[in-house]
Amino acid sequence: MSKVSALYPGSFDPPTNGHLDLIERGAKIFEELVVGILRNTEKSPMFSLAERLEMLKTLTAHLKNVRIEAFHGLMVEYAKSIDATCVLRGIRAVSDYEYELQMALMNRKLEPTLETVFMMPADKYSYVSSRLVREVAQIGGPVKGLVPEVVEQKLREKLEPAYKFHDEMQEATARSSGAKETKRKRRV
Ligand code: PNS
Repeated sequence: MSKVSALYPGSFDPPTNGHLDLIERGAKIFEELVVGILRNTEKSPMFSLAERLEMLKTLTAHLKNVRIEAFHGLMVEYAKSIDATCVLRGIRAVSDYEYELQMALMNRKLEPTLETVFMMPADKYSYVSSRLVREVAQIGGPVKGLVPEVVEQKLREKLEPAYKFHDEMQEATARSSGAKETKRKRRV
């Protein structure tokens, strides 16, 4: 098989353990893997493009054939500009399939020479998405194990008031159930 350069495009807002798992798998089978972060002007992302670039660069520093870049416009045009002949996308569950199939077929219509390759992340990440991570973190909930530690740290910094409030509530609940337990034991 000839050596293949692939593009793994996405929003990565924020990068999750599922993304990282897929990058590591992709890096093993492609000669070169470019992770392309979409510079999306319509959506207002939680993390700026610069932050996403920095996080992904840190997370993939150990993978010598992986490069992190940003792109805008049509993904197929960007793929062509970097000589990628393959697009890598992850499929976690059947629910991803319909959207991914539509996108792959549209991309094939736009650029018939570009092949889309689907890979599955480890099953332990099959429910992990950037959207759900953002949702949990915005309420100060724990995202340990769902995102790499650097991302967890960044989420805590960005959403400090939410985390502070959540931690205080947890402590208050623990104190009040501790007090109830002491009363119950005294009664027994
Ligand atoms: O991680 P995401 O947000 O699901 O990634 C979606 C992405 C960035 C791969 C897709 O929206 C994309 O390729 N956008 C660039 C514009 C484009 O080419 N659109 C046509 C897609 S069929």
